[in-house]
Amino acid sequence: MKTIKDFGNKLEDKRVLMRVDFNVPLDKKTGEITNDLRIRNALPTISYALEAGAKLILMSHLGRPKGERKPELSLEKVADRLARLLERRVEFTPDCVGPEVEKAAAALAAGDILMLENLRFYDEEKDNNPQFAARLAKLADYYVNDAFGTAHRAHASTQGITNHLPAAAGFLIAEEVRYLQKATTDPERPFVAIMGGAKVSDKIEAIQNILRKADALLVGGAMAYTFLKYQGVATGESMVEEDRVELAGNLLKEFGEKIVLPRDHICADAVADTAEIRTADDNIPDGLIGLDIGPATVKDYAEKIKGAKLVTWNGPMGYFEIDAFAEGTRSVARAVADCAGTTIIGGGETAESIEQLGLQSRVSHVSTGGGACLDYLAGKSLPGIAALEQ
Ligand code: 3PG
Repeated sequence: MKTIKDFGNKLEDKRVLMRVDFNVPLDKKTGEITNDLRIRNALPTISYALEAGAKLILMSHLGRPKGERKPELSLEKVADRLARLLERRVEFTPDCVGPEVEKAAAALAAGDILMLENLRFYDEEKDNNPQFAARLAKLADYYVNDAFGTAHRAHASTQGITNHLPAAAGFLIAEEVRYLQKATTDPERPFVAIMGGAKVSDKIEAIQNILRKADALLVGGAMAYTFLKYQGVATGESMVEEDRVELAGNLLKEFGEKIVLPRDHICADAVADTAEIRTADDNIPDGLIGLDIGPATVKDYAEKIKGAKLVTWNGPMGYFEIDAFAEGTRSVARAVADCAGTTIIGGGETAESIEQLGLQSRVSHVSTGGGACLDYLAGKSLPGIAALEQ
């Protein structure tokens, strides 16, 4: 895959249109950015382009505005945060295509940065509309994609645009691929994968592919109850995907010894911090909901993680938003941080929990991709990356 470095000194005084994934989490009440990891991780490519003398135009989506102009999903606050991080001026255009944007792009000098408004204010972005891709391409001479988090989407700004401009990957995409490949191609052993989260169905393809490669899969979160149900363990009022119990059973039959399930649980009668908490060994009594892995399971999992040469982790071990059910996720995070092998953390909630504990510098790689990371681990081709390879 070509990277921005392959453009060499051609970028001087040229307009470079860079797709970044600045789809950052926002506080529901205040609209403030709650985590700017995705912005910080794009800085190396941004700085490289600026040092090469490019006139930089940045584009991204934010949220899912479904083709409507939603002020709360404007990228203006993201442009402000970027300006603060870079300690330089970032201009903002309240649109992403059209004569005004073309004028602003034409007026750029080497080293200037222009951030466009949310691409998804146009349905044409998600539809991968060829005319829309051409209108974006009109703004620049070169195209760079550093939006790993959006690489699983075949959109105008990630795929269609590569039909119009010389294209290359940024350093973030190259780095993400370098790490995730460690899990999908000839992994170091023992390779221990950890999967959590609510549903087996959300992650089934990644689970299947990882089971083919890994030596052990440690299962946590509500998805564990779907597996336990198949084994005849009582799950009380825990969330079980009834229509996936058979599928979980098939995985247990095919990969039996590799799949490690919780053997004790933190339970409560309600999903609330005021609920009465109990630890259940093995069976979860009627009326109780399993909301986290228990201390014996934490010990098992930590032991396995400690001995691994490669660890991948996607999805929390319990309902970690509530403190009483967060210890399983926290303990697994600490065990991963203590592991001497290569440790790869999936994006989204898993990345959040590692950051909340301040452990991000003690793992090898924190992915900026949620869906993109899972699709990569599932062995799927990511359209945004495939377009750069062609
Ligand atoms: C993400 O947050 O996973 C990416 O930015 C992609 O967003 P999407 O799921 O709305 O396409």
